[in-house]
Amino acid sequence: MSTSIKSPEGIAAMRTACRLASEVLDYLTPLIKPGVTTLEIDMHAAAYMARQGTVSATIGYQPPGYPPYPGHLCTSVNNVVCHGIPNHKPLKNGDIVNVDVTVIKDGWYGDNSRMFLIGECSVAAKRLVSVTYDAMWKGIAQVRPGARLGDIGHAIQKFAEGQGFSIVREYCGHGIGQRFHEEPQVLHYGRPGTLEELKPGMIFTIEPMINAGRREVKEYGNDGWTIVTKDRSLSAQWEHTILVTETGYEVLTLSAGSLPPPPFIQTSIFSPP
Ligand code: MF3
Ligand code: CO
Ligand code: CO
Repeated sequence: MSTSIKSPEGIAAMRTACRLASEVLDYLTPLIKPGVTTLEIDMHAAAYMARQGTVSATIGYQPPGYPPYPGHLCTSVNNVVCHGIPNHKPLKNGDIVNVDVTVIKDGWYGDNSRMFLIGECSVAAKRLVSVTYDAMWKGIAQVRPGARLGDIGHAIQKFAEGQGFSIVREYCGHGIGQRFHEEPQVLHYGRPGTLEELKPGMIFTIEPMINAGRREVKEYGNDGWTIVTKDRSLSAQWEHTILVTETGYEVLTLSAGSLPPPPFIQTSIFSPP
């Protein structure tokens, strides 16, 4: 098996699914503030997905060896690296939280996540969130036909480690389409010029998890899902779903509320991305 090339019809369907996944995050954004519980966020997301005509890809999701995932989305707070399960604990001033939304529209999957700063956050927390966002875009900027997966991982690793942070190795980006997790694995570390060559029509996520402290992670509690940093340091993550185009890339998980790319991403009306 290798990475699939999507048909023009598949690409059109992915544009729709991914925009809808991004619009769920737009909808949730004003609700994500001190005092709200992650379970309330989950409930609002479920209601909004029903209105937009999508289905959560995460609820009941059960890869081999896991219990069925119980949330319509993932909420990973502070030292939680990923797969945090919505619960009754209110978000509090100074928390950082990743909200990861994957929807299914007409059988096609759109996957994205953003970080949210709850009230006033420390300088250290804001720097981690911002560096992680830029690290995701350093990876995205590598995407074009002829580049290799190792170029993406290397760009992310070099940038994040250069800022004094560490890259989680146990989880990675992934191909996506009519299944949630397809080939290839998109590592967020690596060596330039290695691994699979990118071709137009491939679609995959880039979703680096970056820790303020050491890179090691562990399972938390016994829910079978929640992953935390071993040293309890803060962790951040951003995620987009990306199409390889003839000339570069197209970010599919964009909508009105998406954060603009960092300044080092060159876009102009004369050379669209
Ligand atoms: N959305 C996550 C990803 O980016 C996967 C979440 S699986 C879940 O791949 F079951 F934890 F929801
Ligand atoms: Co993903
Ligand atoms: Co995701």
